[in-house]
Amino acid sequence: MRPRLSRRQLLMLSATVAGGTGMAALGVAPAFAADYPEFPYPDTDYQEPTRGQFHFSSQGGWMNDINAPLYYDGTYHLFYQHNPHGLTWDTMHWGHATSPDLVHWTQQPIALEPGIHPGDLWSGAGLVDFDNHTGLQTSNTPPIVVFSGTNGVRLFYSNDRAKTFQTYDNGNPIATPAGTSRDPKVFWHTGTNEFKLVIWTDAGGNGVDIFSSPNLLDWTFKSRFAADWLFECPDLFPLPYNDGYKWVLNDASGDYVVGTFDGTSFNPETTVARMVEGRGAFDGTFYAGLTFAHPPGDRIIQMLWMPGNRGDIWTGCATFPVELALRETSDGPRVTRNPIAAIEGLRFDTHRYGPAVVDPGQAEALLRDVVTQECEIIAEFDADSSTATRFGFRLDVNEDGSGGHEVLYDKTAQTLYGAALPTSEGKVRMRLLVDRNHLEIFGNDGTMSYIDSPSFSTSDQTYRLRLYADGGTVSVASIAVHDIARTWS
Ligand code: FRU
Repeated sequence: MRPRLSRRQLLMLSATVAGGTGMAALGVAPAFAADYPEFPYPDTDYQEPTRGQFHFSSQGGWMNDINAPLYYDGTYHLFYQHNPHGLTWDTMHWGHATSPDLVHWTQQPIALEPGIHPGDLWSGAGLVDFDNHTGLQTSNTPPIVVFSGTNGVRLFYSNDRAKTFQTYDNGNPIATPAGTSRDPKVFWHTGTNEFKLVIWTDAGGNGVDIFSSPNLLDWTFKSRFAADWLFECPDLFPLPYNDGYKWVLNDASGDYVVGTFDGTSFNPETTVARMVEGRGAFDGTFYAGLTFAHPPGDRIIQMLWMPGNRGDIWTGCATFPVELALRETSDGPRVTRNPIAAIEGLRFDTHRYGPAVVDPGQAEALLRDVVTQECEIIAEFDADSSTATRFGFRLDVNEDGSGGHEVLYDKTAQTLYGAALPTSEGKVRMRLLVDRNHLEIFGNDGTMSYIDSPSFSTSDQTYRLRLYADGGTVSVASIAVHDIARTWS
């Protein structure tokens, strides 16, 4: 079981309880927006040695959780927990970036600013109030409505496509769950024709409260789903399954269950599973993601925060967006994660190999000429007919082929990169996103996905690869190494 309160959470809690003075009580200087130099962000060409080239990061400052990801009229909006004044967690703002396609991002000014917007501007979700249910529309575009606040949900709304946000009702909470609460997720539920709000609270232990509203302003408590595993940043969304839908409920660490949701209560039908491998924690390799509201094409698209990536002017970044789906297993429905199709538009050069059956020496030689920058590697191996006990890639090897970061399938343990991955009809498929200290691994069509922040060499920003086979042959069905274009302009 995960520890309940980390040192940072204690800091956060004391800051909340005492309105900021708690930090001083713990021997940390109090920090308020006014204490820091103001904007603009530091200049950057986004070419810093550890800056993701096709992963979003804030132009400057600290970033944590993904907040209110949503799509409106040709633009994806990504908000995020943000301290623009330093490289560590402090004085939460909502950072903001926009994109036409989820891969090319433009930094925008701060969306929610302490001192201007009241309360703890902690994590939350948002949506577009297309039919002006709130009655808050004052322009010819529908309001964009976002929810934040701790121990009481506050609403902020924008009538200018998220350029500026107003505070609703002087910041008076629109819903106040029992206990300590934070991280509201809000969505439209077609079954009941109402909005739903799901929020983490510790009332009687970990869990979520579920509220309903006809207008996003007046909320009625409907039920509580108590679960010891469910801590912070809940998300609840439907995914197609067989001829209908199932609902997925997950927390910040990516633990999740699948079940039914009738608009009043959530009923799990599976045991708790892990949506993502790696370390789902505030100081881990991923944490605190959300799915987008209203993306075109009925897709469920998720981005998570990657705490481990940093440089001289920023800390933290986001994962590459993935599309979620459910597949049937003997343990019931399980979530798959796969990079969104837009990645195909970033490929600009491809090296292809296979089919081939290679021994360790031939494997070592096969990719010797490949020198890439940021890349995507897609490979299929016939595990059953391979005699090697382990096979896969060594990434970022030295010029003489030594060193490197191993991404291997272990045939005996049936693991990829240490995480369980049974073969699929005797095959193993690997898809790797390799981007300056970001590594995302997808096994067997997203059945397993892994997020890591290894330290790749930064000397010349090129990567040399090796195919690796341990103690026997490996049957390569196909390998494609795609160079991936940098997305910052
Ligand atoms: C998760 C979290 C949230 C909270 C936010 C504060 O990382 O602890 O529960 O709203 O960070 O920044």
